[in-house]
Amino acid sequence: MAKHRDDGYLSARESRQISRANRKITNEFEKRWKRKNVPESEYLTEMHDKANAVEFDDLHTYFFTDSGTVKSVDGVSFEVPRGKTVGVVGESGCGKSVTSLSLMQLLQRPQGQIVSGEIRLNLGDKAYDITKVPQMAMQDLRGNVVSMIFQEPMTSLNPVFRIGDQVDEVIALHNKELSAQEVRKRTIEAIQMVGIANAEGICEMFPHELSGGMRQRIMIAQALACEPAIIIADEPTTALDVTIQAQILDLLRNLKDKINSSIMLITHDLGVIAEMADYVVVMYAGRVVERGTVEDIFHHPAHPYTIGLMASKPVVGREVKELFSIPGKVPNPINMPNYCYLRDRCDRRLAPCDGDYPCEIAISDTHTVSCYRFYEEYRAQAVADGKDDMSAFGITGGAQDE
Ligand SMILES: Nc1ncnc2c1ncn2[C@@H]1O[C@H](COP(=O)(O)OP(=O)(O)OP(=O)(O)O)[C@@H](O)[C@H]1O
Ligand code: SF4
Ligand SMILES: [Mg+2]
Repeated sequence: MAKHRDDGYLSARESRQISRANRKITNEFEKRWKRKNVPESEYLTEMHDKANAVEFDDLHTYFFTDSGTVKSVDGVSFEVPRGKTVGVVGESGCGKSVTSLSLMQLLQRPQGQIVSGEIRLNLGDKAYDITKVPQMAMQDLRGNVVSMIFQEPMTSLNPVFRIGDQVDEVIALHNKELSAQEVRKRTIEAIQMVGIANAEGICEMFPHELSGGMRQRIMIAQALACEPAIIIADEPTTALDVTIQAQILDLLRNLKDKINSSIMLITHDLGVIAEMADYVVVMYAGRVVERGTVEDIFHHPAHPYTIGLMASKPVVGREVKELFSIPGKVPNPINMPNYCYLRDRCDRRLAPCDGDYPCEIAISDTHTVSCYRFYEEYRAQAVADGKDDMSAFGITGGAQDE
């Protein structure tokens, strides 16, 4: 690969060299993905735990851009248990959406590619490794088994088609045996299920004739029309005001119980996570830094980044002059260091933090963290230096004193 100049800019020649090298790599991936008549045995796998709906295992998803390789997801592992909600949190650009788009195989191709790792998807009697599933087979899984509710309903619904036709399309695609009338009947049921009255009338409308909350309900109806086993909700309520947000979250929770699905809920909003999730995964710069039950993460946050996130959320009844913000910024994803990615922002770092990236260690049956402060051999040092409590970043309390 071409060398970067000291000023951080690339010359046209260097950029051309990078794109030539990228094309070589991505062509290989694309060829594999577009193959036809791939035997199922190539992408069959075994779930490590049959109680899980999805298992992400050391997933690496990169974007091969003309400026270099963006390691958006760099070794992510976590599970989504059946019938449970897993909240994924982290600041903007940390790889939450790319993780979920990898599961849907909806990455921006050809530059976006899953380069290694497994995503095991439980189909009941068998399991598929999504990283190996070819394009043709993936079309049957999307919508039927895994479905996605996007953040912005106005850009996700097609402005030139009527609502009914757009929901019909999803149902017809996955139920080829149904007649047009039967498909419309299912569409009306799906629209009624998300709490919209006058479903027949709504079917004849265009997206711009509906309010933001109604459009988001239509997106949910579309996503849930085929009763998928896994629902990915990527910031499903960010574009809505708080009252509509509460209604949509209630709706999502009820529908999930009704069709017995699992939810992977991606959001910046810790309040939404606290209300909805059973488990929480905290991501930072393309990696999972901490995961556990909602109780573990909200009441016993262990990673300095999680502690910082908890301290930056407003708490009713706690008076603060200024909300806490984590100092510094995320390292450049094209040039990631090999030490802990938070090191330059972390004021409780210890001597070993200058070494390799810390491995994930379990601090209880349900709670894991990637931080040297929890390594047995450095625990005493962390306590002696006063770096084992919530005093980092100048916080004294946070989520623990709610
Ligand atoms: N098509 C793309 N080409 C190049 N880089 C990309 C592309 N899509 C995403 N990335 C990079 O991948 C990283 C992760 O992006 P991602 O969209 O997953 O972040 P996120 O955690 O979902 O952020 P947000 O909370 O803002 O939605 C970012 O650094 C982003 O710049
Ligand atoms: S490993 Fe070190 S630098 Fe990284 S979060 Fe833990 S204490 Fe901070
Ligand atoms: Mg996102």
